[in-house]
Amino acid sequence: MILVLLGPPGVGKGTQGARIALHYVLPTISTGAMLREAISKGTKLGKIAEGYRIDRGEYVPDEIIVEAVDERIEEPDCLNGFLLDGFPRTIPQAKVFAGVLLKKKRRLTGVIDFYAPIDAVVKRFSGRRICSICGTTYHITSQPPKIEGICDLEGGTLITRPDDEPDVVQHRMEVYHEKTTPLRDYYRECGVLHTIDADQDPDLVFRATIELLNRLEAEETLIFEQGKWNV
Ligand code: AP5
Repeated sequence: MILVLLGPPGVGKGTQGARIALHYVLPTISTGAMLREAISKGTKLGKIAEGYRIDRGEYVPDEIIVEAVDERIEEPDCLNGFLLDGFPRTIPQAKVFAGVLLKKKRRLTGVIDFYAPIDAVVKRFSGRRICSICGTTYHITSQPPKIEGICDLEGGTLITRPDDEPDVVQHRMEVYHEKTTPLRDYYRECGVLHTIDADQDPDLVFRATIELLNRLEAEETLIFEQGKWNV
C-alpha cells in the first residue's frame, strides 16, 4: 500500500499517519519530520534545508525534497509500501513522484485528503506539543500525555514547534493555499483522491480512514490479480 496524506497544517496528518502506520505495519515518511531531524542533526540535507527557513513556514525547493524522498523509499522497509505525510506538497513534486513510481513499477493506492474548517485547525496549534527526543505529537487537551509535559514513549520533555507560533501558522496557511491546495484537483483528476472528515474526535477520524483503506486495499488486490497494476 502506498498512501499520500494530504491536508492543511495541523489537520491531523501526523496523528492519523502514526495510527495507520501501526495498523498496517508500514513506515511513515513525514517530510516535515525528516527535515526537522536533519536540521537538528546537522546533516547535509539539514544544512541545505536550514537556509530555506522551514521554521518560518517556507517550503524547501521541490528538487531537494524529491531527491530525499526518492532515496528514502529505496530503503528495504519500504518494499511492501509506505505512507507519505507532507509529500507531495506542490504540483511539480506530485508529477516527479508519479514518474518515480512509474520507473519503480509501483502504484499509488490513494491520496487521503483530511478536511477540517480552518478555524478548527488553527485552534489545534496552540495546544500541540511534540517530544524533544522522538517527535511524537500530543495535544494538551485532545491527546494529552500520561504525565504532563513528558512523552509517554521516550520520556522526553514536550516542547512547542517553532512554526506553531501564531504569525508563522498564518503564513503556513497562506503557503498551503497557494502551493498545496491545487494538488486536490490534480489528484481528483487522477481518480485517487478520497476525502475524510477530520473535524471530529481522532478515534472517529481513524475509524473512517481504516474503512476507506480496507476498501482500497481490496480493490488493489483485485487490480493485481487481474494483472492491471499500471492502469
Ligand atoms: P510538516 O511537519 O509536514 O507540517 P504540516 O504539513 O504543516 O503539518 P503539521 O505537522 O503542522 O500538522 P499535521 O496535519 O501533521 O497535524 P498533527 O497530527 O500534528 O512540515 C513542516 C514544514 O516542513 C513545512 O511548513 C515546510 O516548510 C517543510 N516541508 C515539509 N514537507 C515539505 C515538502 N514536501 N516540500 C517543501 N517543504 C516541505 O495535529 C495537530 C495537533 O492537533 C496535534 O496537537 C494533535 O494532537 C491535534 N489533533 C490531531 N487530530 C485531532 C483531532 N481530530 N481533534 C483534535 N485535535 C487533534
